[in-house]
Amino acid sequence: MHLAEIETARLRLRVIVASDSPAIFAYMSDPRVTAFLPEGCLDEEGSRAFARKHAGAAGQALAVVEKASGQMIGHMPFYPWSAPETYEIGWAFGHAHQGKGYATEAGQALIAHAFEALKAHRVIATCQPENVASWRVAEKLGLRREGCFRACIYRAPGVWWDEFFYALLAEEYNALR
Ligand SMILES: CC(C)(COP(=O)(O)OP(=O)(O)OC[C@H]1O[C@@H](n2cnc3c(N)ncnc32)[C@H](O)[C@@H]1OP(=O)(O)O)[C@@H](O)C(=O)NCCC(=O)NCCS
Repeated sequence: MHLAEIETARLRLRVIVASDSPAIFAYMSDPRVTAFLPEGCLDEEGSRAFARKHAGAAGQALAVVEKASGQMIGHMPFYPWSAPETYEIGWAFGHAHQGKGYATEAGQALIAHAFEALKAHRVIATCQPENVASWRVAEKLGLRREGCFRACIYRAPGVWWDEFFYALLAEEYNALR
């Protein structure tokens, strides 16, 4: 998946392994966490499938381990987007681990990895306008809001979500450093 292990002051980002499924279940079964996630709430089998799907180099997300506890407390989606040299980044943390700056800390490290190690041209992120914590993270990371797509995400019959689109170019990243 173009990802090495990444360490920050308080976190370790590593590839997901199949044995992460109980930790994934612990936070991905919580509707407070999954309300705006495409996977929705996961049961134990869904958590095993998520771990299998994202395990190893082919996965599209990294496990986030809190160094102090050794616990997997969330994950960061990260994968090549549909344009060349472009990566999509995301963030999801267990409820007990939110509000501590972890998403921003992990995001800073992953964005640095994208631009410095992978030589990305552009990093993008998307989120729903109602998910204020998520777009706050995007903005703290220096991503620019490029637009709002109206009713573009299908959720259920008759239910469509709007989506904010954020991006950061390599030249903007370099100017921010
Ligand atoms: C979005 C999420 C990853 C943020 O993680 P986090 O570790 O709490 O983020 P941080 O602490 O780095 O930053 C969050 C920022 O949002 C702000 N914030 C959080 N909730 C907010 C709210 N309801 N209204 C306004 N600001 C809010 C925080 O104050 C903080 O900003 P600040 O540093 O300027 O004060 C976390 O809330 C989460 O996992 N949510 C569920 C999964 C999800 O929706 N992921 C995103 C899908 S697009």
